[in-house]
Amino acid sequence: MTTDPHPWAAEIDSLHAQIWTRLTRGVHDRRAPARHPTLATVDATGRPQARTVVLRGADAAAGTLSLYTDRHSAKVAELRANPLAALHVWDAAAHLQIRIEAEVAIETGPGVADVWASVPEPSRYAYSSTATPGRPIPEALAYTKTPDPAAFARLRLTVSAIDALHLGRAHHRRARFERADGWAGQWLVP
Ligand SMILES: Cc1cc2nc3c(=O)[nH]c(=O)nc-3n(C[C@H](O)[C@H](O)[C@H](O)COP(=O)(O)O)c2cc1C
Repeated sequence: MTTDPHPWAAEIDSLHAQIWTRLTRGVHDRRAPARHPTLATVDATGRPQARTVVLRGADAAAGTLSLYTDRHSAKVAELRANPLAALHVWDAAAHLQIRIEAEVAIETGPGVADVWASVPEPSRYAYSSTATPGRPIPEALAYTKTPDPAAFARLRLTVSAIDALHLGRAHHRRARFERADGWAGQWLVP
């Protein structure tokens, strides 16, 4: 008999710990699945909007995550109107889907100057005041990006709930974790 490659999935506490291990790995390892989660917001017409982002911070103890973005992007306007968002990760090696519900704070200006200082020079071109993301242009390359700290925003996600689905060889397991009960966890039918 082969040993279970994911023994952490069997207990609710170790499953919760594993979720944060995987998220934290995403922050530090470019090849980790949680490096590129999908962020979902709701737009002004009530339509869901989803896009790939880079996970920049994960604090298991606080239950918070962080992302960087251009403050002029549509997602920021959407989050200003409705700060509720979802973040999705499929970690294929772990056979683990992580669905996160969060409230998002938008941080800009002097409060994130130290974060901007840590952004490598080539990456700063993603945050520009000369070319608003999503603006129509006459040709594909008819834009110039100039790095601008005033365009930089950190999105701080305060996680309120996590839904985890593990696809095991013999059994599938699903659990929901909520901040409101101290992340005690509740098994759900997968
Ligand atoms: C691999 C990858 C990583 C990305 N990382 C980010 C990111 O960290 N922050 C961000 O704002 N956009 C990122 N994007 C671009 C977004 O997916 C999206 O196209 C852009 O932010 C505009 O989205 P919006 O108009 O919904 O705001 C990334 C795209 C890809 C393909």
